[in-house]
Amino acid sequence: MHETPDAQPSSSNPIRLMVVVGSVRPGRAGLSVALWVHEHTSQIGGFDIDFVDLAELNLPFMNEPKHPKFQEYRHRHTIAWAERVEAADAFLFVTPEYNYSYSPALKNALDYLHYEWSGKPVGLVSYGGLAGGTRGLAALRPVLSALGMAGVESNIEIPYIARQIDDGFFHPTDRQVEKLTLMLTQLGRKAPTISGARRPALVGV
Ligand SMILES: Cc1cc2nc3c(=O)[nH]c(=O)nc-3n(C[C@H](O)[C@H](O)[C@H](O)COP(=O)(O)O)c2cc1C
Repeated sequence: MHETPDAQPSSSNPIRLMVVVGSVRPGRAGLSVALWVHEHTSQIGGFDIDFVDLAELNLPFMNEPKHPKFQEYRHRHTIAWAERVEAADAFLFVTPEYNYSYSPALKNALDYLHYEWSGKPVGLVSYGGLAGGTRGLAALRPVLSALGMAGVESNIEIPYIARQIDDGFFHPTDRQVEKLTLMLTQLGRKAPTISGARRPALVGV
């Protein structure tokens, strides 16, 4: 079934989409993939993108004394991260597969918070070798479930990622572009209904 772009949010009422670059190592493929996601999403329109590079965010290993469900954060880095995540309506995580799992930096960033994530839709882009990050996503899904995040139907799995990167740029196939467009449509549909109550513009609607 094809989903049409008319489900996209309008430019006057954009969805606040956080795009997260999951890998942090020098020379990572993740930044190139995430920059493609950013560029394509900007072209489609209707999204206000917060681009989060976890390498720049540089969160320490989760060091809050209390469970995030209390939201009694001690550290400034946690408060700033919580405010940023709370402000988002939807997420798009770009993650590699490392040893059959997903990026530890992404896990760390997820573990810092709880309610700031919950009830919000998330799209997933994974990559790796032959399996295209499939096992990484399989490991990520229960974590998203524990946080109450709502996955969208489509995800993108990119096999042999190095073959699609040239000069630092990710070169998507037509199918990958199509899938990203579909994922954005699904995020656009779910974001207003799931996290709408958080958005001042929609209060009382
Ligand atoms: C520590 C490590 C473990 C990896 N484990 C896997 C794996 O289990 N499956 C896979 O398909 N690729 C694996 N790879 C290949 C990566 O997915 C590939 O190198 C990718 O570019 C890593 O993402 P990054 O460049 O954004 O860090 C691994 C790479 C590294 C560095």
